[in-house]
Amino acid sequence: NIPDLAKKLGSSYALGAAIDQTALDPKDPHSELLTKHFNSITAGNFMKMDAMQPTEGKFVWSEADKLVNFAAANNMQVRGHTLLWHSQVPDWFFTDPNDPSKPATREQLMQRMKTHIQTIVSRYKGKVHTWDVVNEVISDGGGLRNQASGSKWRDIIGDVDGDGDDSDYIELAFRYAREADPDAVLVINDYGIEGSVSKMNDMVKLVEKLLAKGTPIDAIGFQMHVSMYGPDIKQIREAFNRAAALGVHIQVTELDMSIYSGNSEQEKPVTDEMMLEQAYRYRALFDLFKEFDDRGVMDSVTLWGLADDGTWLDDFPVKGRKDAPLLFDRKLKAKPAYWALVDPS
Ligand code: XIL
Repeated sequence: NIPDLAKKLGSSYALGAAIDQTALDPKDPHSELLTKHFNSITAGNFMKMDAMQPTEGKFVWSEADKLVNFAAANNMQVRGHTLLWHSQVPDWFFTDPNDPSKPATREQLMQRMKTHIQTIVSRYKGKVHTWDVVNEVISDGGGLRNQASGSKWRDIIGDVDGDGDDSDYIELAFRYAREADPDAVLVINDYGIEGSVSKMNDMVKLVEKLLAKGTPIDAIGFQMHVSMYGPDIKQIREAFNRAAALGVHIQVTELDMSIYSGNSEQEKPVTDEMMLEQAYRYRALFDLFKEFDDRGVMDSVTLWGLADDGTWLDDFPVKGRKDAPLLFDRKLKAKPAYWALVDPS
């Protein structure tokens, strides 16, 4: 009988986990782990665009409804993930409905984006606390993600109002979401911005510009798929400071901590020393989150998974490599990282 993590942390931010459907089944042991330690939930996959609207006009509500009801029954917040992304999005969004060999027009894509966002956000008005409105819109190579870096959104919608700026689809996505639920917290979410100064520069420039146009962005989401080897705390603090200086809040949206230093490393056995080191680093991260919680700008911290048995980092980005990035192990047993958070001494 171990302590309730969220309660032990005593923070004012919501503590969440990403889950798959099995965790919503009260007979599944993941469910108990979830309700005992966390007060926020995110669908790891089943509220993405391909899951919600696999074919045009045919929304699939069953799984998302189940999650929202589970959250309400257990007094948990919901982080909706995600309304617009270049990945896990059906092709039909980007093709001409009358001729699938042709791309959709700007008007078609804007209309589809509006319908997708507003149908979902209004159904869960007052029930989904926070939405990741757009996900990963910044390219690692600089600027907005485009066709060459894997996204059709920017290329097809482009500069709608003719002011020379091509981030209009992002602005529109936020406006559509705000219109459908004025009280939901709206987030621009991305990876690597805590560790790359140049990517954070792009994020800051983008959010500054969008806020100046009145775009309703409430927070920057830092995915934080970090590793035991970096980035260092000072750099993450600096990135958080830059977000706070824009006047928006901070959310840690997909936290996990790989035991690998990079993609070239082969699978290695998980040792006690390694897990201890991971525990120290988790502690340091949560100390940092507390600094921003104390300043009133940390909304939520979400782990990208409940336990190591369900991590998305198994076989990704390296096939045949297992990882151990979370607070509970493959048997759902609390790891040193968990103990470092509930009992820092
Ligand atoms: C991942 C899921 O965890 C995997 O199960 C799926 O195969 C791919 O997507 N950034 C995000 C998340 O915003 O949606 C991704 O989730 C992980 C990276």
